[in-house]
Amino acid sequence: MSIRSLVIGCGSYLPERVVTNAELAERLDTSDQWIVQRTGIRQRHVAADGEVCSDLARNAAERALAAAGVKASEIELVVLATATPDNTFPATATRVQAKLGMTGGAAFDVQAVCSGFIYALAVADNFIKAGQAKTALVIGAETFSRILDWEDRSTCVLFGDGAGAVVLRAEKGSARGVLSTHIHSDGRDYDLLYVDGGPSTTRTTGYLRMEGREIFKLAVQRLAAAVDEALDANKLTARDIDWLVPHQANRRIIDAMGRKLELPAEKVVVTIDRHANTSAASIPLALAEAAGDGRIKPGQLVLMEAMGGGLTWGASLVRW
Ligand code: UT7
Repeated sequence: MSIRSLVIGCGSYLPERVVTNAELAERLDTSDQWIVQRTGIRQRHVAADGEVCSDLARNAAERALAAAGVKASEIELVVLATATPDNTFPATATRVQAKLGMTGGAAFDVQAVCSGFIYALAVADNFIKAGQAKTALVIGAETFSRILDWEDRSTCVLFGDGAGAVVLRAEKGSARGVLSTHIHSDGRDYDLLYVDGGPSTTRTTGYLRMEGREIFKLAVQRLAAAVDEALDANKLTARDIDWLVPHQANRRIIDAMGRKLELPAEKVVVTIDRHANTSAASIPLALAEAAGDGRIKPGQLVLMEAMGGGLTWGASLVRW
């Protein structure tokens, strides 16, 4: 009997401090109207001084473990998706492991920027299907506020900090769980979205740089292809989808995907207005919200999709 990864708990954490568009407009040549119209973003959360990626991740993970009724000591695998680790090394996942009080299992980071959660889910799901772990924690956690050029209005208004986590458990012969994951990359587009620093180049952390319009066009094409791939692989159609939980980069991209799938707006989980783009954290933050408030119910079909720097992109279908 084949093994499936069941999602048995979700959790999320947002830093306390909220920065509104109006606050940004006080110090930048921008406006609430431009940001809302072009992106759907109204506010973002920003980590406090001294609050680091592993703190956000730990808080989300603790809530996911509590929702799942699982003790940290039962976790055999921690896969943390982040592009904004505490330090260049070790992996932030190992710090989260220690903060959770875990002394065993394996913990490592996955780097696929905004597609990070789909990549981390794919990694953990494959470990589970291969029988190498029974219970896994998949986390997306980001502190993008630390890599933003706060003078650059074309990027700094777009991102926020936050973390989300899910607990996966192996179950034999289940009709529920992760049905499939589909991940892709094309390094020829590396320069469209990158950070202009790093340990092996400038020895500095650097700042995020993005060709927004180009990324926008590619996102719509690539996400549409990934979604079709996921549905075809499971012999399902868009009509079978109960929930679209997309990466939250731009409201116009989210709406384009909803239209492509002919989904009514009520079936699309949107958090971008309150969270902005939290990169690898956006999907698990949205999942935790929609599962937590009872929108996503057991047995329903959830489609996730994301695209980010690399370029990387992917999709996953989960029977909740
Ligand atoms: O999560 C990873 C993947 N990332 C994405 O998917 C992001 C994809 N891209 C986008 O979401 C959009 O391209 C942006 C929101 C980044 C930009 O929206 P756009 O409609 O593509 O605008 P644009 O870059 O074409 O800029 C239009 C105008 C420009 O002025 P001119 O040249 O027309 O005079 C910009 O300088 O808007 C100007 N602009 C701004 N104005 C006010 C750019 N940023 C701002 C701003 N406030 N914050």
